[in-house]
Amino acid sequence: MFISFEGLDGCGKTTQINLLAEKLASLAYDVVFIREPGGTAISERIREILLDTKHEGMNQITELLLFSAARAQLVNEVIKPALANSQVVLSDRYVDSTTAYQGYGRGLRLGAVKTINTVATLGVMPHLTFIIDLPLDELARRKMRTGTAADRMERSGRAFYEDVRQGYLAMAQAEPERFTVIDGCQEVETIRQQIWNTVSNHIPRR
Ligand code: TYD
Repeated sequence: MFISFEGLDGCGKTTQINLLAEKLASLAYDVVFIREPGGTAISERIREILLDTKHEGMNQITELLLFSAARAQLVNEVIKPALANSQVVLSDRYVDSTTAYQGYGRGLRLGAVKTINTVATLGVMPHLTFIIDLPLDELARRKMRTGTAADRMERSGRAFYEDVRQGYLAMAQAEPERFTVIDGCQEVETIRQQIWNTVSNHIPRR
């Protein structure tokens, strides 16, 4: 089973993935955790290029292809073998990030993005995808509190992030069987329960 988590930077998805991973492990599921971009030696190198603030001049097509290149390696090296081995793959971002950020955010043609996504994933798609949705004001408040430095993507500005957010919501509406949109303003425990309700309804019994 393959489950991905999506949402804007700082939405709380990493906390929720960790909670879900603990729960699954306690039930003796064999869990593989990955984050995108990254997850293999080659993909981590590509991640450094993508997030480096020195690379301000990165062309948008270059950006699209690099995220996709990192993903192709991850699918072949990690995701496909894990799924073939009946492991549960939990992914902090996957192909929907490319549709949301490069497609809706950067404004690249959605048809072209879709074609490249299919090439990069070999058609391997998550069974379930959670979008943790948060208004931009709340994200900005959280960012001020944590005070972490912005990477190259995070320097993209508010209008970009608003487009990414709306993109995610449009994608969820178009494919309601796979996506679950979660209100990220709720308590961590409430969100954890909502995610578990959906996962426990879909995951094969052990
Ligand atoms: P990361 O530090 O992993 O962010 P987060 O903790 O929010 O997941 O950085 C990944 C950044 O790359 C994030 O800003 C989202 C962006 N991204 C894309 O633009 N396209 C993609 O296909 C992926 C996977 C990520």
